[in-house]
Amino acid sequence: MNNDKRLIDITWDEFQPLSLPAKIPYCNRNGCPYHVLIAQQFDRAMLDDLGILATKIRRIAKSKAGMLFLSSLLEHKRAMLYFSQPSSRTFLSFYAACQILGMKTAELRDSTTSSEMKGESQEDSVRTFSSYFDLLIMRSPIQGFAEKMAWLLSSTERPVPIINAGSGKDQHPTQALLDIYSLQRSFEKTGGIDGKTIVFVGDLLRGRTVRSLSFLLTNYRNVRQIFVAPPQLQIGPDILEQLDAAGVTYEVHHEFEPVIPRADAIYMTRIQDEWDKDGESKKLDTSAFYFTARHLALLKPQAVVMHPLPRRQEIATDVDRDPRAIYWRQARNGMWIRVALMATIFGRAPEVAAYYEQTLG
Ligand code: NCD
Repeated sequence: MNNDKRLIDITWDEFQPLSLPAKIPYCNRNGCPYHVLIAQQFDRAMLDDLGILATKIRRIAKSKAGMLFLSSLLEHKRAMLYFSQPSSRTFLSFYAACQILGMKTAELRDSTTSSEMKGESQEDSVRTFSSYFDLLIMRSPIQGFAEKMAWLLSSTERPVPIINAGSGKDQHPTQALLDIYSLQRSFEKTGGIDGKTIVFVGDLLRGRTVRSLSFLLTNYRNVRQIFVAPPQLQIGPDILEQLDAAGVTYEVHHEFEPVIPRADAIYMTRIQDEWDKDGESKKLDTSAFYFTARHLALLKPQAVVMHPLPRRQEIATDVDRDPRAIYWRQARNGMWIRVALMATIFGRAPEVAAYYEQTLG
């Protein structure tokens, strides 16, 4: 059944307050992502398909002929990277993913070089830029800005897909996709993500990566989620309500060390102090939420330690050499899952699968 809905058929005042599940039909088309705005738009089948596609792509990319094939897929398309919030890894990961697909790119990262300095609204700027490109990849400190632009452009002559590359404190859907892909790969030989225990640590209140990933994990059976943070930075009630609604088992703790032996994955995060009003998180003692080499002895042999990066004082560098530390692999997985995502948005996944069958299948 096709439940797709069009943003042009709804006013912003009607769309904005919709629940996240009610927004899903406006993001996907025929069961595939079109706009990528919220983690909630991805179901289990989509996550499985994206992971399988990403793995085919990375294998195809091992040869020159494969790279040339991949770079022909979207060579007729242009992408705009509009990043009005600091970013290097997500920006470069998307940039490299566009290059792999042959897409031409342009970027705007500093609004002081734009007519926004002449008083133009950000909405008007992005609307103008959209007319030169076929895809907009956006990071913004404003919650819901990518949604707003997707809605606004729907009534223009040339609507284009929009990918949310991180919005405010609320969503980071493509980071969650790369985290899921990393978990899929890590648990390939141990029964997959179903039944695993995932421990989230750090600033769970303002960390958008945790908020998006926690939701994606509700697509898996019997996953236990454990949230460990100082009380002031503990996970928000909206996320716990989502977990309750999905029938997910979770625990909320303030002590880190006792839960380490139970974890199949530990997801460390940085204190997001850029959102502080008055340096309040600097006054917190977060030393108990620091993963050091000493903790490796407590960790299951098959467990993994993750981090969306950038890292500060969450994981000691002498943990990096342990095979269970997968944060650098996570970053590389991000590039491949973004290639898979953009190939899917533009309907090229069947071509990739056919090429794979012919050459490597
Ligand atoms: C994260 C972000 O921007 O939310 N970084 C990223 O995209 N990998 C995490 C962070 O900044 O702490």
